[in-house]
Amino acid sequence: MKSFHIVTFGCQMNEHDSERMAGILEERGYAPASVAENAGMVILNTCSIREKAEQKFYSELGRLRTLKKANPKLTIAVAGCIAQQEGKKILSKAPYVDMVLGPSDIAGLFTMVEAHRRRPVPVIETEGDPEYHHKLIPASRTDGLKAWVSIMYGCDNFCTYCVVPYLRGRERSRPPRDLVQEVRGLTEKGFKEVTLLGQNVNSYGKGLKEGSDFPRLLGMINDIPGIERVRFVTSHPRDLSDALIEAVRDLPKVCESLHLPVQSGSDRVLAAMNRRYTSSEYREKVKKLKSAVPGIALTTDVIVGFPGETEDDFEMTMGLLGGVEYDNIFAFKYSQRPNTAALTLTGHLPENVKEARLERVLSLQRDITLKKNSRLVGTVQEVLVEGQSKKGGKLTGRTRGNKAVNFHGNDAPIGSLLSVRITSAGPNSFSGEPCV
Ligand code: SAH
Ligand code: SF4
Ligand code: F3S
Repeated sequence: MKSFHIVTFGCQMNEHDSERMAGILEERGYAPASVAENAGMVILNTCSIREKAEQKFYSELGRLRTLKKANPKLTIAVAGCIAQQEGKKILSKAPYVDMVLGPSDIAGLFTMVEAHRRRPVPVIETEGDPEYHHKLIPASRTDGLKAWVSIMYGCDNFCTYCVVPYLRGRERSRPPRDLVQEVRGLTEKGFKEVTLLGQNVNSYGKGLKEGSDFPRLLGMINDIPGIERVRFVTSHPRDLSDALIEAVRDLPKVCESLHLPVQSGSDRVLAAMNRRYTSSEYREKVKKLKSAVPGIALTTDVIVGFPGETEDDFEMTMGLLGGVEYDNIFAFKYSQRPNTAALTLTGHLPENVKEARLERVLSLQRDITLKKNSRLVGTVQEVLVEGQSKKGGKLTGRTRGNKAVNFHGNDAPIGSLLSVRITSAGPNSFSGEPCV
């Protein structure tokens, strides 16, 4: 039996691309292997967002080299963003690699596998399929309840620190008809929740012949019977329109939860990042969101130690976090990435300064998260029952704000919606009791 194993690094989009590669291979009779040691083919689906992600990939590749020495028939494929970045250069660093394929070449995976089987020389595809966004690609999803659906590929924003536009190409939106069809198919398989994926979902629809925008797409997905919850990532603050705020307010299945990356609280740094909004414009949008959708869960991304970031700039980021009070944040130390404009800026900061600032934002956020979480105690939340919790005998699920809740209630079927009263809050999860 032909078998494969995929190791995934990076964002949800990459996670979903791995599900698609698995879907393509399973359709052709390949079986998933739970560990690389048992697989005939291993795919590393890579990420290049920060230097650390790249290092993780090279250490995993080194491990596969040892495996291949023991089993020369092992096929090693490198997919994802580092594959796109390095192309055939990967072969000079790692001549034992058999296949290199970029994120927009996934649809051709099986053709590459066949070509390599007929003639075992390295196969490289990083040109990108111009019709990729019109392809319907099968996916072998790991979860039976919650599904990712890519609605668009690429990014046009060119934030000065970011490699994504260089590696995922320009923005291309999938036609709404294909998306509705995909989500209908998911409901037939019992899926209850979809998360719509794109680097900047708010600009969905640019260049589509049929003409549609993101709020309208949300409406179409909301209307599909069987789907209970709709989420989406990522929203660029500049493109967060009133229409989108109204859609989140009015569409019953669209969850009251938004990831809205701010990156910095300093206008000087935001300009140098090419984010194209000011911190007061950002705060204004948050204010609108909070008044239109009371209790909305907000999360964000922050970069500390961007080139030229002064102590004052950094304090503005701290001030913004204190003012907005996010439910949670993802914070990163600025990392130099190939080809990006920020490389040429002056004022690159030493590692110890970045490290200290990272510690400070994380510590501030820990307090804010705990404070916000404790406010939920005593409230009743709608929970989608997802399965058994790791801690003895309880069920686990998520609120519309995407918070994990553990509760007793063994007769609640997986996939059902339950009203749960929150009884206690921790930093990462809650305990509750079902309301009867
Ligand atoms: N398209 C999304 C996600 C981009 S990557 C968005 O615009 O938000 C996810 C996060 O990684 C970014 O929001 C940013 O905070 C972080 N990131 C990207 N490039 C980085 C770099 N060079 N160094 C540190 N963090 C980075
Ligand atoms: Fe990168 Fe900016 Fe595009 Fe997000 S919006 S993927 S941070 S360039
Ligand atoms: Fe990484 Fe590429 Fe996603 S660089 S974060 S896998 S788009």
